[in-house]
Amino acid sequence: MAVTVFIPTLHATPEVQSDSPRERLPFNRGWLFSRNDPPDAGDALVYERIKDWLLPCGDHLLNLSPRRHSPLGTGPGEMRVVGISYTLADYDDSRWRKLNLPHDWGIEGPFHPDLTGKTAKLPWFGVAWYRKHFALPAIDTGRHVYLDLDGAMAYATVWINGIFAGGWPYGYTSWRVDLTPYIKFGGENTLAIRLDNPRESSRWYPGGGIYRNVWLVKTAPVHIAQWGVRVTTPVITNDSAVVNVAVTIDNKTGNKSETNVITKIYQADHAGLPVGQAILQSSSVTARIEAGEQAWVSHSLVVPSPRLWSLETRNRYVAETDITRDSAIIDRVRTPFGIRAIQHTAGNGFLLNGKRVPIRGVCMHHDLGALGTAINFRAMERQLEILHEMGCNAIRTSHNPPAPELLELCDRMGFLVQAEAFDCWASGKVRDDYSRLFPDWHEKDLRSMVRRDRNHPCVIQWSIGNEIREQGSSGGRKLAAHLAGIVREDDRSRPVVAGFNLIQSGYNGMMTAADIVGYNYKPFEYSKIHRTHPQYPILGTETASTISSRGEYVFPVSENKLDGRNKSTYQVSSYDLYAPKWGSTPDTEWRAQDENPSVMGEFVWTGFDYLGEPTPYNSDTTNLLNFATAAESAQAAKELDGLAKVRAPSRSSYFGIVDLAGFPKDRYYLYQSRWRPGLPMAHILPHWNWPGREGQITPVHVYSSGDEAELFLNGNSLGRKKRGAFEYRFRWDDVVYSPGELKVAVWKNGKPWTETVRKTTGSAAKLLLTPDRAQLRADGADLVFVTVTVADKDGLPVPRAQNSIRFSVTGPAEIAAVDNGDATSFAPFQGSERAAYNGFALVISRTKPDKSGILVLRAESDGLEPAAIELSSK
Ligand code: GAL
Repeated sequence: MAVTVFIPTLHATPEVQSDSPRERLPFNRGWLFSRNDPPDAGDALVYERIKDWLLPCGDHLLNLSPRRHSPLGTGPGEMRVVGISYTLADYDDSRWRKLNLPHDWGIEGPFHPDLTGKTAKLPWFGVAWYRKHFALPAIDTGRHVYLDLDGAMAYATVWINGIFAGGWPYGYTSWRVDLTPYIKFGGENTLAIRLDNPRESSRWYPGGGIYRNVWLVKTAPVHIAQWGVRVTTPVITNDSAVVNVAVTIDNKTGNKSETNVITKIYQADHAGLPVGQAILQSSSVTARIEAGEQAWVSHSLVVPSPRLWSLETRNRYVAETDITRDSAIIDRVRTPFGIRAIQHTAGNGFLLNGKRVPIRGVCMHHDLGALGTAINFRAMERQLEILHEMGCNAIRTSHNPPAPELLELCDRMGFLVQAEAFDCWASGKVRDDYSRLFPDWHEKDLRSMVRRDRNHPCVIQWSIGNEIREQGSSGGRKLAAHLAGIVREDDRSRPVVAGFNLIQSGYNGMMTAADIVGYNYKPFEYSKIHRTHPQYPILGTETASTISSRGEYVFPVSENKLDGRNKSTYQVSSYDLYAPKWGSTPDTEWRAQDENPSVMGEFVWTGFDYLGEPTPYNSDTTNLLNFATAAESAQAAKELDGLAKVRAPSRSSYFGIVDLAGFPKDRYYLYQSRWRPGLPMAHILPHWNWPGREGQITPVHVYSSGDEAELFLNGNSLGRKKRGAFEYRFRWDDVVYSPGELKVAVWKNGKPWTETVRKTTGSAAKLLLTPDRAQLRADGADLVFVTVTVADKDGLPVPRAQNSIRFSVTGPAEIAAVDNGDATSFAPFQGSERAAYNGFALVISRTKPDKSGILVLRAESDGLEPAAIELSSK
């Protein structure tokens, strides 16, 4: 199989300010952590009580005029009165736990069988505090100092030197606190951040903690505002592209300011950094800014013979914006951007640079499996590499704004992105979800998403919501129009979409508030909506929801999509025929797409398994929202009740095309066969180790990009088949099992295309270790993902092997986490032991910072030949 090679990763986030007084320093190291509030906190910090302090913080940062004023007349800087000991600079925190960010306290476990599977049976909820002591040199006096958080889960409040400075409740958006008025220049400072996750606030595992990167930003008092450079490319031809650059400048001084603004354009390298000499320079524009105000200026430049960003070429440019006074640079921001044209058409799908690109997308939640939600660049990159190899070209960030690094990776690697803001509006799905924040925060959160991410060429759509409960009402239509209006104020270059799960939303006015009809699980509606509203672009915003456990097969093979469960092990058969009531097989969805070629494509639920929502063993009642009729819903409610009583052990999803550990399930090859039609590939299922099934019917399915196939069992042909119209897999449903070798020979357009075999293996004899990379960076964040295979003496993976494996590492690295993809396991992700699940386990090792050398990873299991690998970290 072809292996896609990506250019080596860099962690740099490309807002680089050499030659500029601006500094953007990673602020992740050296934090202190403690769970729960101190006894003196009382209930003073409940969001309802503090929102009058929090609301103006967001308004200030996004330059919205505060619509509300605190009845107490207080604001940032005045919450010292609460006197909570943890906020105070002199509080003795010497016994607090030391850690580095990003951090997710929930993933540390332990799993608890009594906790709900919906949020992974992990203790991510409740209160926690982070503190950090840091010195600021006297030389910084007069500069502006901001704390930038890419995301903290959730209800964050920030104190500096005992004084309340700001905060942000939604855990998925990025925000900034201005520390300048309260910080000590030339002295020690203490930051205290409190987080508070309501227990009933999510339908999936949200994690808990400062789980994304934190930055300390220092600028001159007159500086480019947060996300203050916006690049658009409204006119693109072969010969030239118009590049408009709008720059917003903050004047934080008490005097009127006059500065000059110049933007240069460079070609960018793969990491979005400028290469060589500038290819263009704008003329200088003067910005006059009143004391304490903002102002914006713009440039228009014309790039000759533009090198377009596409999924294959990924070309980018950098706009380098300088603001100068008396010819000295007082601020510089570099903004990577791409030149590409997008069109969402009603008749011909999605066009990138004028060419149709079918959207072969997946929905992804934000967790990184065994690593939890704490973001890690390499872990995200690995997920994308695995999806890319399958032929996936698009990600829907369900159902919230992503970490900024995900978009950087999608720009680099060539993925399209639908960035989604919300899973609910004013009407919630679980008791304490975003509906509590919606009235006060939707505008700030929406603007935070759009303003942060609008320069990414990968982002092609803004989703204002997923399966919003207000869809059916006229109030909902007004809200949709209001939200779409906010998005369009900040970006008119991309369409607004929403994921509708009500058929009526395609007809009741919701669809005109948005620019696209995005249907979740409505393949049967595509032809009707296209016939009745040929002017609407249509997209499968969420499709399939096929469920399975890697390497599990249930007999007899049922054609009823609600079957396939192994009720004693809580696994689901991997024949890819099973889905919840609202979902379908991939095959059903594809038939609808093929019958309706105007549909842009799809975002499959989901690319990877994720923590939480273990349907069909999920006792979360929000699933009931997906049922069309009261009778169906009542029946499902009864089943959920039953599951709650038996306390199903399941704690992560079965929806993934890839399991939680990153191992492809069978379905991976079904998607690959369709999404990479030019790749000669064939995949046989099930495995062929069935002692005791001799003489019994054991259906064999083959996923292949070819169009004709012949199956052989121990050399005897079981028939040659042609794939008919709307057939997406080859099926031999009456195969009688006998051990040995299955072989499939595949043709395409009458010519031999590929062959593959599946053999009955011997018993487990040895361990094999396969690292995803051999050369690591010694930066304390880089990871190697090592696949551990339980193999027979010939090296074939033993399909049902569950051997327990012990790991050890020597050299400049440590074990970060272990997993095996089993959705029912309560074994901790942190540890150095793991049982294989159906032949495989995963060990993730993290490098140590600033320590180069050879690391040796060993795996041992009783009765098996051990394995060891050597890797280098530098
Ligand atoms: C959808 C929902 C997703 C997930 C999925 C499971 O209705 O939008 O978040 O719950 O169902 O099939």
